[in-house]
Amino acid sequence: MPMNLTEFEDLLESVLDPVLWVVTARFGDEQSGLIATFVQKASLVPALPRMVAAIARHHYTWSLIENSQSFALHLVGETQFEWIDRFGLHTGRTSDKFASLPTTRGTTGSPLLEDAILWMECRVEASLDTGDRSIYLAEVVSVGTGPDDRPLRLKRMLELLPEHQRSELERLTAKDITLDTAAIETWRAGKRNPVRSK
Ligand SMILES: Cc1cc2nc3c(=O)[nH]c(=O)nc-3n(C[C@H](O)[C@H](O)[C@H](O)COP(=O)(O)O)c2cc1C
Repeated sequence: MPMNLTEFEDLLESVLDPVLWVVTARFGDEQSGLIATFVQKASLVPALPRMVAAIARHHYTWSLIENSQSFALHLVGETQFEWIDRFGLHTGRTSDKFASLPTTRGTTGSPLLEDAILWMECRVEASLDTGDRSIYLAEVVSVGTGPDDRPLRLKRMLELLPEHQRSELERLTAKDITLDTAAIETWRAGKRNPVRSK
């Protein structure tokens, strides 16, 4: 049965119910991190692990990944629910997202969150600009585990989110949709009308 696209997006999120990640990056003295659902294992070869992550190009963390060509991925556990507000509802441009969190520095320089269930340090091997996002294919250069916990999934996060944070998430999502719409349309227009060199 045909559906409208907004209902379809909600259904898709609900059926997939993705786990949540914190993606961190550092360049020079600047560091940040964000919550992401768009993270995927991308290699079958145990000796050559790879991951894919898609990061919106207007986020501060994106600029740090672009400059450093590296990032770290951390699987969020239910005990780390506080990370949703810390990393997902504010920008690192104006606040220190790592204040009072146990962190170390990885071999790539990316901040590592010691309380993550598991973490991976990644070096970018290729990236695809899709207008709204950069989709990074990255080599995993080191991995580790932390305390045992159940991964936090999107549905559970929405159940646990207090009302004021839920309305802030809705406000930020609406803002991101406006920015992403313009970015995708500009990107598509460039594909249809490429500037030809003589
Ligand atoms: C549940 C949830 C999922 C998100 N998924 C993504 C994602 O996959 N990619 C992305 O770029 N941003 C995603 N975001 C948005 C960023 O986490 C958020 O805008 C962050 O505050 C950006 O921080 P920064 O400006 O310090 O980089 C998500 C946020 C939440 C709360």
